[in-house]
Formats: sequence, C-alpha cells, structure tokens
Amino acid sequence: MRIVVLYGGFSSEREVSLTTGTAMGNSLKKNGYKNIIFMDIGGNFFKELLEIKPDICVNGLHGKFGEDGKIQAVLESLKIPYTGSGVAASCLAFDKAYSKYILRGAGLPTAEFVIASKDNQKPPFLPCVVKPAREGSTIGISIVKQEAEYKRALKIAGQYDGKIVVEKFLDGKEITVGILGDKALPPIWIKPESGFYDYESKYTKGKTEYLFDTGCTEKEMAEIKDTALKAFNAAGCTGYGRVDFIYKENTPYILEINTLPGMTETSLLPQAAAEAGINFEQLVEEILYTSGE
Ligand code: DAL
Ligand code: MG
Repeated sequence: MRIVVLYGGFSSEREVSLTTGTAMGNSLKKNGYKNIIFMDIGGNFFKELLEIKPDICVNGLHGKFGEDGKIQAVLESLKIPYTGSGVAASCLAFDKAYSKYILRGAGLPTAEFVIASKDNQKPPFLPCVVKPAREGSTIGISIVKQEAEYKRALKIAGQYDGKIVVEKFLDGKEITVGILGDKALPPIWIKPESGFYDYESKYTKGKTEYLFDTGCTEKEMAEIKDTALKAFNAAGCTGYGRVDFIYKENTPYILEINTLPGMTETSLLPQAAAEAGINFEQLVEEILYTSGE
C-alpha cells in the first residue's frame, strides 16, 4: 500500500502540521507500512501526486488549504482517497461562522455571535472574543474586555481573514472531546496557566494542564460527549475530529469543530485516545480505515 502523508503546506499552522504529519507517518512506519512518502504541499504537488498514484493520502495538514475542503477537492478530482472529512464538511467546520449557523440549526448550544468586518466600529457585546472566521490554533484571536481594545482586535483578526466572528465571551470551563469513527473519547478539561488557551499555551510544554477529571458528573460528561457527536454529525464530518467547548452553567457551548485536530504525540486527541486504551499507533491505524465521505 502506497501512502502519501501530506504535511507542511502554506497555512499559518505550517509548523504544527509538520509535527502532526511526521508523527502520523512515523507511526504508520512503526505499524509496518513500508511505502510511506512525506509530501510537503507546495507548487508541484498535483504533478507529484499524479506520478506517485498513492492508494491513500493521510492528511496531516492544518489550516487553510488543508483543513478547509480545498485539498480534499483536489484529491477528489485526482480520485485519491484521503483521511478525515470530505469537501463540504471540511469547508463548513473550518469556517466558524458557517459552523455556528449549522450548530444553531441543529439546536446545539453555541455562544451568541455576529459576523463583522475589520471596519466595524463598536463591539456588539462585552466582553467578547474576536476571531478570524477561518483559522486554527487560536491564531489571530483576541479577548476584548473594553471597547477601546476592539479595533485592535479586529485589525489582528483581519490580517488572517476578511470575515471575522465576534462571539460573546463565556467564562467557563474549557473542555474538548476527541472523536474517532462514531465514538466520543473521554473529555479533557484544559487549564492553561495564562487563563487563555492561545498558541503559546497550546504548543509549549508545561504551559497547560490537561485533566481527565473534569469535575463534571457522569451525566454531564455523557451530555458533553453526546453534544460533541451531534455537532460532528450535523456538519457532516467523518473519520475523526475534535469538538471544543466552554462548559458553563450546565451547558456545553460549542466553540468549534476541528476536522484535522493536532496529532502530535502529546496533542489532545491522542491523549484522549490513550485514556480510552488506544495508543498512538492504533489511533493512526484507525484513522486510516475510518475515513471517507
Ligand atoms: N488546529 C489545531 C491543529 C488543533 O485543532 O489541534
Ligand atoms: Mg480549530
């Protein structure tokens, strides 16, 4: 079986993707797959893929042109199977505005929001969170507590996307649920030292505490997991993913659905899988076989 691991690319999450792709590819090698080709997505990759004719592409990309449905569409047109969600689900889940419409439509809880442009003048509510609609790893996101901070936050988000989501800030517990196939994995309570789970807290060892003891009751945990699956399915996602929440006043408010969650050995989904008794190699193997639209 010839497997191409797509990684790198040109999104602002390139560095994370290099780590994800390397971990996934190395794990497949450990599992005995001999024909693994790592491909950093650049100008000539169409041609290279046509020449290599892989049996499947393992998508280790993150962010734009990786997670947003575009590479998926290319692979569809080349008739190459790939891991993770399909074109439409990837596009919808990656766009925080579209995904919030879907969540609302499905009757699932998500924070109040408006769509803004970078020329917007006044925050619709305070405190709020200003986010580029299509980014990952908390890049371009600011928490705004006072009106005076709003314009700067819009400017920062606007550097990444002309479409900006302004969400009501919810002061609650940050919880994430990994999904593998049709099952929700054990929820993780994320406790960043800084209080804001930003890029630094995500990728610097020791900056965040991850707890399986979420302090929620069994019933609450079951509801969080059920909500994660409902969100994943509402967006049409398949294979694997991760749904992020703020849990507040007995309500699991969905922040976002990630179709290509980080897959470094210490990332959240692998941690959750390990808690469920699935080691990293088994997880990557499952991903290989549970994907497809
Ligand atoms: N966007 C990063 C990779 C994540 O969701 O884990
Ligand atoms: Mg994300």
